[in-house]
Amino acid sequence: AFIDVTLSLLKITKVGKTSLIMSLVSEEFPDEVPLRAEEITIPADVTPERVPTHIVDYSEAEQSDEQLYQEISKANVICIVYSVNNKKSIEKVTSHWIPLINDRTDKDSRVPLILVGNKSDLVEHSSMETILPIMNQYQDIETCVECSAKNLKNISELFYYAQKAVLHPTGPLYCPEEKE
Ligand code: GTP
Ligand code: MG
Repeated sequence: AFIDVTLSLLKITKVGKTSLIMSLVSEEFPDEVPLRAEEITIPADVTPERVPTHIVDYSEAEQSDEQLYQEISKANVICIVYSVNNKKSIEKVTSHWIPLINDRTDKDSRVPLILVGNKSDLVEHSSMETILPIMNQYQDIETCVECSAKNLKNISELFYYAQKAVLHPTGPLYCPEEKE
């Protein structure tokens, strides 16, 4: 038997959701991206956990709240993307996105969340100091990762963590060190 892993990436501001998906697929940073990436399915044999994986982008400009709620209810794992150089985007994780997702999912069947700090190429310092208290506060957060769509850092890791969160959920506190 295999499990389909459906993964949703959520909008905060221009944090790079679409760029992350395009970087994964084409293995290079796209200079220009559409507002929303087409839904893609990564075939089982090219994913680390050997499960077909649907990746669903979200665009506030192109989608209604209703469509967002539908995507949330279908997802097996949700990546909440913020930008490491944008404090507001980090604040919105706890003020907006986690409550919104919790409201839309059953208490007993919560989806694992992954906090994704994109644009690590733009900063010297990691955002982990800010993120760790959030990780401790919300049990649904499976893991966090800092990455860069631009220099392709930790992109395949991000999607691997997402698959792993669905197939082999671990404790809530695992937070991988950023690789240099
Ligand atoms: P919306 O769909 O409008 O919500 O935005 P989004 O979250 O999909 O972001 P998008 O991929 O459109 O990227 C927004 C801007 O950030 C673009 O100008 C990208 O080129 C840039 N960008 C995305 N990822 C990175 C990154 O890792 N590093 C840097 N420096 N820029 C990035
Ligand atoms: Mg987009």
